[in-house]
Amino acid sequence: MTKYEPEMQKSAFPKLTEPNGLDTGPIPIEPYISPEWFEKEREQIFGRAWLCMGRIEQLPEPDTYIVKEIEVRGVIALITRDKADKVRAFHNVCSHRANMIVQDSAGKGSRFVCKYHNWAYRNDGDCIGVPDRANFFNLDIKKCGLTPIVCDVWEGWIFINLQKVPEVSLKEFLGPFGEAFTNAPAPSAEHAFNVNVSTMKANWKTTIDAFCESYHVPVLHPDTVGATFANDSNPYSRPLSGHARGAHRTMTTFGNPDYVPPEHALVERLAYSNLDLGNTLGANDAKEIQALLDHPAINPRRVPNWATEIAWIFPNFLIFYSPGGFFTLEFWPLSVNSTRWVARMHIPKAKDVRQRFQQEHHNCRMAEIFLEDVGNLERQQRAMESGAKTEIVLQDGEFMLRHSIETIRKWVAAKTVREALA
Ligand code: FES
Ligand SMILES: [Fe+2]
Repeated sequence: MTKYEPEMQKSAFPKLTEPNGLDTGPIPIEPYISPEWFEKEREQIFGRAWLCMGRIEQLPEPDTYIVKEIEVRGVIALITRDKADKVRAFHNVCSHRANMIVQDSAGKGSRFVCKYHNWAYRNDGDCIGVPDRANFFNLDIKKCGLTPIVCDVWEGWIFINLQKVPEVSLKEFLGPFGEAFTNAPAPSAEHAFNVNVSTMKANWKTTIDAFCESYHVPVLHPDTVGATFANDSNPYSRPLSGHARGAHRTMTTFGNPDYVPPEHALVERLAYSNLDLGNTLGANDAKEIQALLDHPAINPRRVPNWATEIAWIFPNFLIFYSPGGFFTLEFWPLSVNSTRWVARMHIPKAKDVRQRFQQEHHNCRMAEIFLEDVGNLERQQRAMESGAKTEIVLQDGEFMLRHSIETIRKWVAAKTVREALA
């Protein structure tokens, strides 16, 4: 942290854009609406960056697997944990006539059988069964294994890289972000569920941008979460800190310490009637939560009224650390103006009915907020595509968006990944 402290973070709401080495000019709209630009991103970013697939807890024991579709590259990744506990990734494609092998999104099993002609594979990738093998022509079963995808795990986060031989290691890709967030705990990671998987008619950057600035929160979410992210001392929900960290970035959002549910919000009042259970997710006593709060990169200025540490792992993965746990958002481009969005909660198992009620209320609230965002983003995308504007302007609290688009432009232009990371 010493790298960033103390000058730039001294005031209550420190400046973020210039101290992080960013320009202050307008940003071209083209990357948000241009099919040609999207093709460049497809190759230069999603074809070269390490892509976060989720948590190791999604593979809770040996012989479990998940399947992740990466439409922007036309890839269906089968990620396995084999008997030796090694996490591996493969293309989910049969070596016989290239059918898709695994058809569910997660499960348990040490072998996979293609449902077309029953070719079988072990979860370390080897082909272990070819029915009526004698009727093939010089078939070498050793060469019939699953096609591997490069895969690595950092701090329990699973990443893949779709280059045959990645130009940089995961460690180098994560760079200063990886250094700062080493040992950041992932409390209740084993108790996770998707609260949203949906397709939005908006560019992936339009979409992810909306979750990386709190400037809009009091305006767009007045009846849901607006009052928890702003108060008289911070009416525009300015961030409490923010750091560019290599290709990645993090930001601390403000939480209103005086927030109480309004009179008319009877369900919310009931849900939070026993606030000694802790923050919104009701994680009161987990040691892991304390370890999360103690981590130097989370709420790095140690301000009392923080709400969330947003970690944006380039290009498309967000981790929201909060006093109650963490959730993740993934934004997978489908086309220049459509995006698959996955929101996944990680919260403690409820100890009693009241805590469960509180958690359910929280999850419903999240769904409400997300709906408010979705409608807004689809309108924004249509308006951007109208051609009325060629640029957008960003304020200081939107520094993450600026750092993102600058990083994207760098990656699109760079001949090598190392050049993009420089
Ligand atoms: S395509 Fe998989 S067994 Fe034939
Ligand atoms: Fe929002």
